[in-house]
Amino acid sequence: MTTVSVIKADIGSVGGHVVVPEELMSIAKKELKAAVEKGIILDFHVTHVGDDLQLIMTHNKGEMNEEVHRLAWDTFMKCAQEARNLKLYGAGQDLLKDTFSGNVKGMGPGVAELEFEERKSDPIAVFMADKTEPGAFNLPIFKIFADPFNTAGLVIDPKIHGGFKFQVMDIKENKLVTLKTPEEMYDLLALIGSTGRYTIKKVWRYDDLPAAAVSTDKLYAIANKYIGKDDPVAIVRAHSGLPAMGEILEAFTMPHLVAGWMRGSHTGPLMPVAVEDAKCTRFDGPPRIIGLGFQVSNGKLFGPVDFFADKAFDITRQRALEMMDYLRRHGPFMPHRLHEDDMEYTTLPGVLEKLKDRFTKAD
Ligand code: F6R
Ligand code: MG
Ligand code: MG
Repeated sequence: MTTVSVIKADIGSVGGHVVVPEELMSIAKKELKAAVEKGIILDFHVTHVGDDLQLIMTHNKGEMNEEVHRLAWDTFMKCAQEARNLKLYGAGQDLLKDTFSGNVKGMGPGVAELEFEERKSDPIAVFMADKTEPGAFNLPIFKIFADPFNTAGLVIDPKIHGGFKFQVMDIKENKLVTLKTPEEMYDLLALIGSTGRYTIKKVWRYDDLPAAAVSTDKLYAIANKYIGKDDPVAIVRAHSGLPAMGEILEAFTMPHLVAGWMRGSHTGPLMPVAVEDAKCTRFDGPPRIIGLGFQVSNGKLFGPVDFFADKAFDITRQRALEMMDYLRRHGPFMPHRLHEDDMEYTTLPGVLEKLKDRFTKAD
């Protein structure tokens, strides 16, 4: 069995919360290269989306493996130390605990992992977003695995006609539920339409073939205060009895609205970009997503291909920019600014607290 582990953290960036510098990426590359030599992992690819450092790793130790998680944690700690030396912005930001305790869950970094038996050929996509939250993946993951208007194979490929199972996490209650499409599609949508509360965590084909994994880590739930959005990642397997890569990418052609953007407090379009454009600028955005394609071959990563570095996504980007411009004109007003309930874990309550005693009873 092969496991793909994508573990990410914001541990410091340049020009504010904008870009992870090469200085940190090269430390991460060096650490992971040494780990390959020691046999801890089989292969890796280091990249970044905006201010988030991304460790994409393969191994055969299974999900939630202590050694692999420790490697990621120690790598982030080393990078954070250098970030502090360089006085980078937000140095060590997502490393919320002092000591490692078995795995990085609940410690700040985001994690998506998928263990599977390699097929004759195993193409995967790794998606990584900045300035948004795990619920941003609900819509595209639903489209990929359950929407016949997106994924033609659901209708015409006998191998996926049987549908998919979605594991959904209730972030508030810390509970899981699994629903099967197409039979329970409406129930699934009833949950995952609430993107701030319910997030898709795993997807399997009807016969339990692992298909996708999404990070569901919530920084505020760990720190009990606003730290920044949770900038999610996802792993999606493609082809030969799963949605085709083109069907997977089709789900990102509508720049759907997500929560995050400036101060984690605004709604904005999720814009698919090339790795070289993965830096959030205007109003700290708009929220961006990159997608890298690999072949997982005997535990090694062959690739990547930078999926969104393509003209076919120009129209999506253009639409995202127009939407961004329109939304910005709302300034501090909803629905550009998030709903009051979603502002609970931002810096707004600190302001409202001051006004509390100024209110007098109305008749
Ligand atoms: C969003 C994000 C940024 C910051 C904003 C203010 O996730 O990280 O939008 O919230 O740039 O940053 P501070 O409070 O560090 O000045
Ligand atoms: Mg950040
Ligand atoms: Mg970020």
